[in-house]
Amino acid sequence: MTCARIVGTGSYLPPRIVTNAELARRVDTSDEWIVSRTGIRQRHIADENQAASDLSLEASREALRAAGVAASELDLIIVATSTPDYVFPSTACLLQAKLGVHGCAAFDLQAVCSGFVYGLAVADSLVRAGQSRTALVVGAEVFSRILDWNDRGTCVLFGDGAGAVVLRADERPGVHGSVLHADGNHAGILAVPGNVCGGKIVGNPFVTMDGPAVFKFAVKVLDEVARETVAKCRMQLSDIDWLIPHQANVRILDATVKKLGLPAARLIVTVDRHGNTSAASVPLALDLAVRDGRIQRGHKVMLQGVGGGFTWAASLVEF
Ligand code: ACO
Repeated sequence: MTCARIVGTGSYLPPRIVTNAELARRVDTSDEWIVSRTGIRQRHIADENQAASDLSLEASREALRAAGVAASELDLIIVATSTPDYVFPSTACLLQAKLGVHGCAAFDLQAVCSGFVYGLAVADSLVRAGQSRTALVVGAEVFSRILDWNDRGTCVLFGDGAGAVVLRADERPGVHGSVLHADGNHAGILAVPGNVCGGKIVGNPFVTMDGPAVFKFAVKVLDEVARETVAKCRMQLSDIDWLIPHQANVRILDATVKKLGLPAARLIVTVDRHGNTSAASVPLALDLAVRDGRIQRGHKVMLQGVGGGFTWAASLVEF
Protein backbone atom coordinates (compact mmCIF):
# COMPACT_ATOMS: atom_id res chain seq x y z
CA MET A 1 0.00 0.00 0.00
CA THR A 2 1.42 3.38 -1.01
CA CYS A 3 1.75 6.03 1.69
CA ALA A 4 3.73 9.20 2.28
CA ARG A 5 7.26 8.74 3.62
CA ILE A 6 9.38 11.54 5.06
CA VAL A 7 12.53 11.80 2.94
CA GLY A 8 13.92 15.08 4.24
CA THR A 9 13.48 17.54 7.09
CA GLY A 10 14.51 21.16 7.56
CA SER A 11 13.97 24.06 9.91
CA TYR A 12 14.76 27.71 10.37
CA LEU A 13 14.93 30.00 13.38
CA PRO A 14 15.48 33.75 12.82
CA PRO A 15 18.86 34.85 14.23
CA ARG A 16 17.52 37.37 16.76
CA ILE A 17 17.23 35.71 20.17
CA VAL A 18 15.19 37.28 22.98
CA THR A 19 16.08 35.87 26.38
CA ASN A 20 13.85 35.79 29.46
CA ALA A 21 16.12 38.39 31.03
CA GLU A 22 15.46 40.75 28.12
CA LEU A 23 11.70 40.25 28.50
CA ALA A 24 11.97 40.92 32.23
CA ARG A 25 13.23 44.40 31.36
CA ARG A 26 10.04 45.04 29.39
CA VAL A 27 7.28 43.42 31.51
CA ASP A 28 6.92 42.41 35.16
CA THR A 29 8.31 38.87 34.93
CA SER A 30 11.50 36.94 35.67
CA ASP A 31 13.63 34.17 34.20
CA GLU A 32 12.79 32.07 37.26
CA TRP A 33 8.99 32.47 36.75
CA ILE A 34 9.13 31.71 33.03
CA VAL A 35 11.46 28.70 33.35
CA SER A 36 9.60 27.17 36.30
CA ARG A 37 6.12 27.58 34.71
CA THR A 38 7.00 26.83 31.07
CA GLY A 39 10.59 25.57 30.63
CA ILE A 40 11.17 28.34 28.05
CA ARG A 41 14.59 30.04 28.21
CA GLN A 42 14.58 32.04 24.99
CA ARG A 43 12.67 32.61 21.76
CA HIS A 44 13.70 33.69 18.23
CA ILE A 45 12.02 36.73 16.74
CA ALA A 46 11.79 37.47 13.01
CA ASP A 47 13.11 40.70 11.53
CA GLU A 48 10.52 43.26 10.46
CA ASN A 49 11.12 42.36 6.82
CA GLN A 50 10.80 38.59 7.35
CA ALA A 51 7.35 37.12 6.73
CA ALA A 52 6.07 33.56 7.16
CA SER A 53 6.94 32.77 3.54
CA ASP A 54 10.58 33.82 4.12
CA LEU A 55 10.91 31.54 7.15
CA SER A 56 9.18 28.79 5.14
CA LEU A 57 11.64 29.24 2.29
CA GLU A 58 14.69 28.69 4.52
CA ALA A 59 13.20 25.57 6.15
CA SER A 60 11.99 24.21 2.80
CA ARG A 61 15.37 24.64 1.11
CA GLU A 62 16.98 22.68 3.92
CA ALA A 63 14.35 19.91 3.74
CA LEU A 64 14.69 19.67 -0.05
CA ARG A 65 18.48 19.53 0.26
CA ALA A 66 18.27 16.78 2.90
CA ALA A 67 15.84 14.84 0.68
CA GLY A 68 17.90 15.30 -2.49
CA VAL A 69 14.71 16.52 -4.16
CA ALA A 70 14.50 19.51 -6.56
CA ALA A 71 11.70 22.03 -5.98
CA SER A 72 10.57 21.35 -9.56
CA GLU A 73 9.67 17.78 -8.53
CA LEU A 74 7.06 18.97 -5.99
CA ASP A 75 3.43 18.43 -6.94
CA LEU A 76 1.99 19.72 -3.66
CA ILE A 77 2.89 22.46 -1.18
CA ILE A 78 0.99 22.88 2.11
CA VAL A 79 1.89 25.63 4.54
CA ALA A 80 0.34 25.42 8.00
CA THR A 81 0.23 28.90 9.50
CA SER A 82 -1.95 31.24 11.54
CA THR A 83 0.28 34.19 10.72
CA PRO A 84 0.26 34.31 6.90
CA ASP A 85 2.00 37.04 4.90
CA TYR A 86 -1.34 38.35 3.56
CA VAL A 87 -5.08 37.74 3.72
CA PHE A 88 -4.42 36.30 0.27
CA PRO A 89 -2.69 34.94 -1.77
CA SER A 90 -1.76 32.06 0.49
CA THR A 91 1.70 31.79 2.03
CA ALA A 92 2.03 28.48 0.16
CA CYS A 93 1.61 30.25 -3.20
CA LEU A 94 4.16 32.89 -2.19
CA LEU A 95 6.54 30.13 -1.07
CA GLN A 96 6.06 28.30 -4.35
CA ALA A 97 7.14 31.44 -6.27
CA LYS A 98 10.13 31.98 -3.92
CA LEU A 99 11.20 28.38 -4.58
CA GLY A 100 11.22 29.32 -8.27
CA VAL A 101 8.57 26.82 -9.37
CA HIS A 102 4.97 27.02 -10.58
CA GLY A 103 2.04 24.83 -11.48
CA CYS A 104 1.84 22.44 -8.53
CA ALA A 105 -1.00 22.61 -5.99
CA ALA A 106 -0.31 25.02 -3.13
CA PHE A 107 -2.52 26.05 -0.23
CA ASP A 108 -2.44 27.14 3.40
CA LEU A 109 -3.93 25.15 6.23
CA GLN A 110 -5.17 26.90 9.37
CA ALA A 111 -5.40 24.69 12.46
CA VAL A 112 -3.17 26.87 14.68
CA CYS A 113 -0.72 24.73 16.71
CA SER A 114 -2.11 21.49 15.21
CA GLY A 115 -1.58 22.82 11.67
CA PHE A 116 1.53 20.87 10.79
CA VAL A 117 0.09 17.51 11.90
CA TYR A 118 -3.14 18.32 10.05
CA GLY A 119 -1.03 19.19 6.97
CA LEU A 120 0.94 15.96 7.18
CA ALA A 121 -2.31 13.97 7.38
CA VAL A 122 -3.80 15.82 4.39
CA ALA A 123 -0.64 15.30 2.32
CA ASP A 124 -0.56 11.61 3.25
CA SER A 125 -4.21 11.26 2.19
CA LEU A 126 -3.48 12.90 -1.17
CA VAL A 127 -0.51 10.58 -1.67
CA ARG A 128 -2.62 7.53 -0.78
CA ALA A 129 -5.31 8.73 -3.20
CA GLY A 130 -2.74 8.98 -6.00
CA GLN A 131 -3.10 12.78 -6.23
CA SER A 132 0.44 13.56 -5.11
CA ARG A 133 3.82 11.82 -5.31
CA THR A 134 6.20 14.45 -3.92
CA ALA A 135 4.89 16.89 -1.33
CA LEU A 136 6.30 19.68 0.84
CA VAL A 137 4.58 20.31 4.18
CA VAL A 138 5.68 23.35 6.16
CA GLY A 139 4.73 24.81 9.54
CA ALA A 140 5.70 28.49 9.73
CA GLU A 141 4.78 31.24 12.16
CA VAL A 142 5.60 34.82 13.05
CA PHE A 143 3.59 34.85 16.28
CA SER A 144 5.61 37.88 17.45
CA ARG A 145 3.28 39.93 15.19
CA ILE A 146 0.12 38.91 17.08
CA LEU A 147 1.46 39.24 20.64
CA ASP A 148 0.69 42.09 22.99
CA TRP A 149 4.25 42.70 24.20
CA ASN A 150 2.84 44.38 27.33
CA ASP A 151 0.87 41.27 28.36
CA ARG A 152 3.20 39.14 30.47
CA GLY A 153 0.63 36.32 30.50
CA THR A 154 1.15 35.63 26.80
CA CYS A 155 4.22 37.41 25.39
CA VAL A 156 6.69 35.19 27.29
CA LEU A 157 5.31 32.01 25.73
CA PHE A 158 5.70 32.34 21.97
CA GLY A 159 8.37 32.66 19.28
CA ASP A 160 8.87 32.63 15.50
CA GLY A 161 10.22 29.84 13.29
CA ALA A 162 9.54 27.31 10.56
CA GLY A 163 9.96 23.60 9.98
CA ALA A 164 9.42 21.54 6.84
CA VAL A 165 9.31 17.98 5.56
CA VAL A 166 9.50 16.53 2.06
CA LEU A 167 7.29 13.50 1.51
CA ARG A 168 7.47 10.92 -1.25
CA ALA A 169 4.99 8.26 -2.25
CA ASP A 170 6.51 4.94 -1.20
CA GLU A 171 5.56 1.30 -0.75
CA ARG A 172 7.67 1.16 2.42
CA PRO A 173 6.14 2.31 5.73
CA GLY A 174 5.92 6.06 6.26
CA VAL A 175 2.87 7.72 7.78
CA HIS A 176 1.13 4.72 9.37
CA GLY A 177 -1.97 6.68 10.30
CA SER A 178 -3.31 9.97 11.61
CA VAL A 179 -6.22 11.13 13.74
CA LEU A 180 -7.61 14.68 13.51
CA HIS A 181 -10.08 16.34 15.89
CA ALA A 182 -11.59 19.75 16.58
CA ASP A 183 -14.15 21.26 18.96
CA GLY A 184 -15.14 24.84 18.20
CA ASN A 185 -16.95 25.11 21.54
CA HIS A 186 -13.57 25.86 23.12
CA ALA A 187 -12.74 28.72 20.74
CA GLY A 188 -12.76 31.21 23.61
CA ILE A 189 -9.87 29.81 25.69
CA LEU A 190 -7.23 30.56 23.06
CA ALA A 191 -7.87 33.05 20.28
CA VAL A 192 -6.89 36.13 18.34
CA PRO A 193 -10.44 37.45 18.23
CA GLY A 194 -9.87 40.18 15.65
CA ASN A 195 -10.20 40.78 11.94
CA VAL A 196 -9.57 43.34 9.22
CA CYS A 197 -12.75 45.01 8.01
CA GLY A 198 -13.25 48.15 5.93
CA GLY A 199 -9.56 48.98 6.25
CA LYS A 200 -9.60 48.80 10.05
CA ILE A 201 -8.79 46.22 12.72
CA VAL A 202 -12.03 45.05 14.26
CA GLY A 203 -11.81 43.26 17.63
CA ASN A 204 -8.58 42.29 19.38
CA PRO A 205 -5.60 41.53 17.09
CA PHE A 206 -3.55 39.91 19.89
CA VAL A 207 -3.38 36.42 21.41
CA THR A 208 -5.80 35.98 24.31
CA MET A 209 -5.61 32.87 26.47
CA ASP A 210 -7.02 31.22 29.55
CA GLY A 211 -3.73 29.53 30.53
CA PRO A 212 -4.94 27.00 33.12
CA ALA A 213 -7.89 25.93 30.88
CA VAL A 214 -5.55 25.45 27.90
CA PHE A 215 -3.14 23.46 30.06
CA LYS A 216 -5.81 21.01 31.25
CA PHE A 217 -7.37 20.62 27.83
CA ALA A 218 -3.99 20.05 26.12
CA VAL A 219 -2.87 17.29 28.52
CA LYS A 220 -6.24 15.50 28.27
CA VAL A 221 -6.44 15.44 24.47
CA LEU A 222 -2.74 14.71 23.86
CA ASP A 223 -3.18 11.57 25.94
CA GLU A 224 -6.44 10.57 24.21
CA VAL A 225 -5.26 11.20 20.66
CA ALA A 226 -2.01 9.26 21.17
CA ARG A 227 -3.99 6.21 22.32
CA GLU A 228 -6.49 6.56 19.49
CA THR A 229 -3.71 6.83 16.90
CA VAL A 230 -1.75 3.75 18.03
CA ALA A 231 -5.03 1.78 18.11
CA LYS A 232 -5.85 2.94 14.56
CA CYS A 233 -2.37 1.82 13.43
CA ARG A 234 -2.81 -1.51 15.26
CA MET A 235 0.22 -0.81 17.44
CA GLN A 236 0.95 -0.33 21.13
CA LEU A 237 2.14 2.79 22.94
CA SER A 238 5.33 0.85 23.69
CA ASP A 239 6.06 0.71 19.92
CA ILE A 240 6.70 4.48 19.94
CA ASP A 241 10.42 5.26 19.81
CA TRP A 242 9.99 9.04 20.01
CA LEU A 243 7.15 11.27 21.15
CA ILE A 244 7.02 14.79 19.69
CA PRO A 245 4.05 16.66 21.12
CA HIS A 246 3.41 20.27 20.17
CA GLN A 247 6.13 22.23 21.97
CA ALA A 248 3.95 24.55 24.07
CA ASN A 249 5.29 24.16 27.54
CA VAL A 250 7.61 21.66 29.28
CA ARG A 251 5.00 20.97 31.96
CA ILE A 252 2.44 19.95 29.30
CA LEU A 253 5.06 17.71 27.65
CA ASP A 254 6.09 16.09 30.95
CA ALA A 255 2.48 15.50 31.99
CA THR A 256 1.71 13.93 28.59
CA VAL A 257 4.61 11.47 28.57
CA LYS A 258 3.82 10.53 32.16
CA LYS A 259 0.10 9.99 31.47
CA LEU A 260 0.99 7.79 28.50
CA GLY A 261 3.34 5.75 30.69
CA LEU A 262 6.26 6.25 28.30
CA PRO A 263 9.86 6.69 29.49
CA ALA A 264 10.76 10.39 29.70
CA ALA A 265 13.84 9.64 27.58
CA ARG A 266 11.57 9.10 24.56
CA LEU A 267 10.23 12.65 24.72
CA ILE A 268 11.76 15.23 22.37
CA VAL A 269 11.87 18.69 23.97
CA THR A 270 12.94 21.84 22.12
CA VAL A 271 10.54 24.41 23.58
CA ASP A 272 13.28 25.62 25.96
CA ARG A 273 15.27 27.08 23.04
CA HIS A 274 12.50 28.58 20.85
CA GLY A 275 9.30 28.88 22.91
CA ASN A 276 5.94 27.96 21.45
CA THR A 277 6.20 28.40 17.67
CA SER A 278 2.66 27.12 17.04
CA ALA A 279 2.45 25.21 13.72
CA ALA A 280 6.25 25.29 13.37
CA SER A 281 6.97 23.57 16.68
CA VAL A 282 6.52 19.91 15.69
CA PRO A 283 8.58 20.02 12.45
CA LEU A 284 11.25 22.12 14.23
CA ALA A 285 11.58 19.50 16.97
CA LEU A 286 11.52 16.68 14.40
CA ASP A 287 14.29 18.26 12.34
CA LEU A 288 16.44 18.87 15.38
CA ALA A 289 16.16 15.27 16.58
CA VAL A 290 16.87 13.96 13.08
CA ARG A 291 19.95 16.16 12.74
CA ASP A 292 21.35 15.27 16.16
CA GLY A 293 20.98 11.58 15.30
CA ARG A 294 18.34 10.59 17.86
CA ILE A 295 15.69 9.81 15.25
CA GLN A 296 16.98 7.25 12.77
CA ARG A 297 15.55 5.32 9.84
CA GLY A 298 13.03 2.73 11.03
CA HIS A 299 12.15 4.58 14.23
CA LYS A 300 8.47 5.13 14.97
CA VAL A 301 7.69 8.72 15.85
CA MET A 302 4.42 10.03 17.25
CA LEU A 303 3.80 13.65 16.19
CA GLN A 304 1.09 15.52 18.09
CA GLY A 305 -0.57 18.87 17.71
CA VAL A 306 -2.96 20.77 19.97
CA GLY A 307 -4.04 24.37 19.76
CA GLY A 308 -6.60 27.04 19.07
CA GLY A 309 -9.92 26.00 17.68
CA PHE A 310 -9.64 23.88 19.69
CA THR A 311 -7.87 21.45 17.38
CA TRP A 312 -5.83 18.37 18.20
CA ALA A 313 -4.23 15.67 16.10
CA ALA A 314 -1.60 12.95 15.98
CA SER A 315 0.28 11.09 13.31
CA LEU A 316 2.33 7.92 13.76
CA VAL A 317 5.23 8.04 11.34
CA GLU A 318 7.89 5.46 10.57
CA PHE A 319 10.96 7.42 9.76
N1 ACO B 1 5.55 36.46 34.89
C1 ACO B 1 5.20 36.56 36.20
N2 ACO B 1 3.95 36.33 36.65
C2 ACO B 1 3.04 35.99 35.73
C3 ACO B 1 3.33 35.87 34.36
C4 ACO B 1 4.66 36.12 33.96
N3 ACO B 1 5.04 36.02 32.69
N4 ACO B 1 2.21 35.50 33.70
C5 ACO B 1 1.23 35.40 34.62
N5 ACO B 1 1.73 35.68 35.83
C6 ACO B 1 1.04 35.72 37.12
C7 ACO B 1 -0.45 35.89 36.98
O1 ACO B 1 -0.79 37.26 36.81
C8 ACO B 1 -0.94 35.34 38.30
O2 ACO B 1 -0.77 36.31 39.27
P1 ACO B 1 -1.90 36.52 40.42
O3 ACO B 1 -1.93 35.20 41.16
O4 ACO B 1 -1.35 37.65 41.22
O5 ACO B 1 -3.17 36.80 39.69
C9 ACO B 1 0.05 34.23 38.60
O6 ACO B 1 1.19 34.47 37.76
C10 ACO B 1 -0.48 32.85 38.34
O7 ACO B 1 -1.10 32.85 37.09
P2 ACO B 1 -1.63 31.52 36.47
O8 ACO B 1 -2.16 31.81 35.11
O9 ACO B 1 -2.53 30.83 37.44
O10 ACO B 1 -0.25 30.71 36.39
P3 ACO B 1 -0.02 29.25 35.98
O11 ACO B 1 0.75 28.57 37.03
O12 ACO B 1 -1.29 28.59 35.49
O13 ACO B 1 0.92 29.42 34.73
C11 ACO B 1 0.80 29.42 32.33
C12 ACO B 1 0.50 30.19 33.61
C13 ACO B 1 2.31 29.24 32.20
C14 ACO B 1 0.28 30.23 31.17
C15 ACO B 1 0.10 28.06 32.44
O14 ACO B 1 -1.26 28.21 32.73
C16 ACO B 1 0.25 27.28 31.18
O15 ACO B 1 1.30 26.81 30.87
N6 ACO B 1 -0.85 27.10 30.43
C17 ACO B 1 -0.79 26.51 29.15
C18 ACO B 1 -0.73 27.61 28.21
C19 ACO B 1 0.09 27.34 27.01
O16 ACO B 1 0.97 26.52 26.94
N7 ACO B 1 -0.26 28.10 26.02
C20 ACO B 1 0.42 28.03 24.79
C21 ACO B 1 -0.55 28.19 23.76
S1 ACO B 1 -1.64 26.91 23.77
C22 ACO B 1 -1.02 25.74 22.92
O17 ACO B 1 -0.09 25.91 22.23
C23 ACO B 1 -1.70 24.49 23.09
